[in-house]
Amino acid sequence: MVKGIMNKILIKRANEHQDKTVLLNGWVYNSRRSGKIGFLMLRDGTGIIQCIVVKNDVGEEKFEQFKRLTQETSISVSGKIVKNDRAPGGFEIQTSDFTIHQISVDYPITPKEHGTEFLMSNRHLWLRSKRQNAIIKIRHQIIKATRDFFDSHDFTLVDTPLLTPNVCEGTTTLFETDYYGEKVFLAQSGQLYGEANAFAMGRQYNFGPTFRAEKSKTRRHLLEFWMVEPEITYCDLNENMEWAENMLAYIVAQVLEHKSEELAILERDISVLEKITAPFPRVSYTDCVEILKKGGFDFEWGGDFGSPEESYISQQFDKPVIIHRYPAEIKAFYMKRDSENEDLVLGMDILAPEGYGEIIGGSEREADYDTLLKRLKEDDLPVEEFQWYLDLRRYGSVPHAGFGMGIERTVSWICKLPHVRETIPFPRMHGRLRP
Ligand code: 4AD
Ligand code: MG
Repeated sequence: MVKGIMNKILIKRANEHQDKTVLLNGWVYNSRRSGKIGFLMLRDGTGIIQCIVVKNDVGEEKFEQFKRLTQETSISVSGKIVKNDRAPGGFEIQTSDFTIHQISVDYPITPKEHGTEFLMSNRHLWLRSKRQNAIIKIRHQIIKATRDFFDSHDFTLVDTPLLTPNVCEGTTTLFETDYYGEKVFLAQSGQLYGEANAFAMGRQYNFGPTFRAEKSKTRRHLLEFWMVEPEITYCDLNENMEWAENMLAYIVAQVLEHKSEELAILERDISVLEKITAPFPRVSYTDCVEILKKGGFDFEWGGDFGSPEESYISQQFDKPVIIHRYPAEIKAFYMKRDSENEDLVLGMDILAPEGYGEIIGGSEREADYDTLLKRLKEDDLPVEEFQWYLDLRRYGSVPHAGFGMGIERTVSWICKLPHVRETIPFPRMHGRLRP
């Protein structure tokens, strides 16, 4: 075997090592034989490459071992990388030797079709498939682009707690746990702490897991999901919308630039993604109600949009659409009221096109102490627990705004997946806690 770190390469780097003898470590994707020649498709997570194993090159004994290779057997291969335009990826390995580490027996996920329940129960293995690999890489790119966007605009990444006595997004979706005799919740959002961080840092973003005990089982709802939340001081609703649309356009452009192979594996129509440039259309909630009525929906002003309404509205546009100024009744206590109409809040949601619905929710925040105190009381929230949050309005309050983007919903739309369950390695949903 060829040993040493200099010769050990990843499959995605094969093109950089043409005509060199290298060591590749991975797993059998599949293998077949034709007479005295064996064809091994080797995967290592970064790519898949064809290894040609000729009986005369490796010897009789090794060739007998080749016959024992099964799907997902772990194996190291050494050989020369040669160009072959007909091979997937344009390169293949002329194998000189290989070492089997462990023979995989009866790998449950075969190339044949499997039902979703079966695949979800074998999620820990399903992740090795080509499609799941592509989704995970695109998810990574989306997260990287998001962070790069904020980092390059002088935001500081600040972490927020996951255990909290504060309610952020309403009392109906709380996961409760015991904190040495005290009742605490798993964070629904890091926003309230993000606001404190923004007053300390000017511009901050927090990024982490959030939890919601959602009552309904849908294609869009997870019980544990990841959210990125910028919070910006000296910022109003309009500027907030600009940050959101520029961020989203940047993310899509980065995925198109760096993950075209993965989008191709998913058979994603990228012409739709290529149109995603700022600015996005802006439509008020009230105008959306008119769009719905014209579209035949029986919808009253004041109601919240459900999946069918969001899908319909988003299908009217070929870019993400920003809906702003919602009825105060259906939105959270911290949103600032519209000075021109006190029944409205300066909130905004961004709906992804192609019927995907809400991927971003945000608002300008109530910055006045007395008004915020009144809102807390109206919502029956425990004022004592919010004294620290009220302090932000006691000591140098300023207009500020922010939003939250759900990573899984964004992955789901960019990859055009039918369900949010494939956007995260181990989804937590109704009826699914394992693996
Ligand atoms: O609209 P939401 O509830 O807004 C907030 O949490 C604000 N505190 C954010 C802020 O202003 N800092 O949630 C924001 C986003 C949604 O647009 C959606 O993408 C995602 O979080 N989200 C979910 N994703 C998956 N499963 C769920 N159950 C989700 N709930 C919200
Ligand atoms: Mg929302």
